[in-house]
Amino acid sequence: MKLKKFIGNKNYSVGAKNFSPLRNQNIMQNILITGSNGQLGNEIRAISENYPNFQYFFTDVDELDITDKEQIRRFVAENDIHFVINCAAYTAVDKAEDDEKMAYLINAEAVKNIAEIAVERKVKVIHISTDYVFDGTNHVPYTENMPVSPTSIYGKSKLVGEEVLMQTASQSIIIRTSWLYSAFGNNFVKTMIRLGRERDSLGVIFDQVGTPTHAADLAEAIMKILNSEKWISGTYHFSNEGACSWYDFAKSIHRLAGVDCKVNPIETKDYPVRTPRPFYSVLNKAKIKSTYELEIPHWEESLRKCIADLVCSERS
Ligand SMILES: NC(=O)c1ccc[n+]([C@@H]2O[C@H](COP(=O)([O-])OP(=O)(O)OC[C@H]3O[C@@H](n4cnc5c(N)ncnc54)[C@H](OP(=O)(O)O)[C@@H]3O)[C@@H](O)[C@H]2O)c1
Repeated sequence: MKLKKFIGNKNYSVGAKNFSPLRNQNIMQNILITGSNGQLGNEIRAISENYPNFQYFFTDVDELDITDKEQIRRFVAENDIHFVINCAAYTAVDKAEDDEKMAYLINAEAVKNIAEIAVERKVKVIHISTDYVFDGTNHVPYTENMPVSPTSIYGKSKLVGEEVLMQTASQSIIIRTSWLYSAFGNNFVKTMIRLGRERDSLGVIFDQVGTPTHAADLAEAIMKILNSEKWISGTYHFSNEGACSWYDFAKSIHRLAGVDCKVNPIETKDYPVRTPRPFYSVLNKAKIKSTYELEIPHWEESLRKCIADLVCSERS
C-alpha cells in the first residue's frame, strides 16, 4: 500500500551506507533515529520537516545495527550526532518467548552499546520502552515510580534495557508507551480492518484494559521535547488519553473505517496466546504533560486521524 503521508527528508539520502547530509553545524543539531523503518521511526520521519532546526539520520538495521557497538561509535563520530532516538527494538512479543537470546540482544545489550557511546561522545538519548514492564495487576493508572514486574521475555528484556541505559547514561530520557499503532507497519488497527472485511464476526478480548497510542502523537511529543531545549532526564509515560479494552478499540476501528462486522466480547481465558498480557496497563501521563506542557489527544480522536490516513492512502 502506498502511503501519501510518507515523506523523505530532503537534507540527505537514505540508503544502505549512503548518507550525504547538507551540513550547517552552526544551526543544526544532528539526530540519529535507529529502527526508523518501524512504526515510530516512520512517524518521526513524517513530521521531521516541521522541525527544520534538526538534521535527521534515519537508519534501520541495514544502515546501522545497534547490536554492533563499533558501528554505532563510528556512525555517531562521523556524523557528529547530538541526540539518539532509539526506536529500534525486538517487538514480537510471542516470538520472544522462544527467541530469548535475540530479544535480550536487541532490547538490552544493544541499548547498553548506545548508552556507552552516548557517554563517550556526550550524546543525549531518548529511549522507548513499554507498559509490559508492569504485571498489569493495578487498578489505577501506572506512574513512573510504581514497582515493575514484567511477566514476558519481551517485557523483561525491555526492563533490562531501561536499567542498563540509566546505570550507564543517567542523563537519558526513557518514554514508556502502550498499544502503539500507526499507518505504517503492522498493528492491531490494520489487523482489525483486514479481519473485519474478511469475516462476518470476530471475537475480541474485553477484559484487558489499556490505552492505544497513535505513534504519530508519540513522535510529536518526542520532537517537542527536543525542540523545547529543556532536557530533564528520567522515565516518562506516554499514551493517548482515556482507556479502553481491546474489544472497545476494535469496535471503534470498525465504526471509523466503515467496516461491517459483528465484534463479540471474549475473555482472555478463551483466547490462548503464547505470552500472558497485562490485564491493566493504563499509564499515568501527568509527569510528561506537566514537564513538557504537552496536550495529548484522546485515543479515539487520534484513531480517527490514523484511519482517515489509511483510507486516503487506499484510495490513491
Ligand atoms: N508496538 C507496540 O505496540 C509497542 C508498545 C509499547 C512500546 N513499544 C516500543 O516502542 C518502540 C517502537 O516500537 P515500534 O512499534 O515502532 O517497533 P517496530 O515497528 O517493530 O520497529 C522496530 C524497528 O527496529 C528494527 N530493528 C530490529 N533490530 C534492529 C537492530 N539490531 N538494529 C537496528 N534496528 C533494528 C526493526 O527491524 P525489523 O522489522 O527488520 O526487525 C524495526 O524496523 C520500541 O521500543 C517498542 O518496544 C511498542
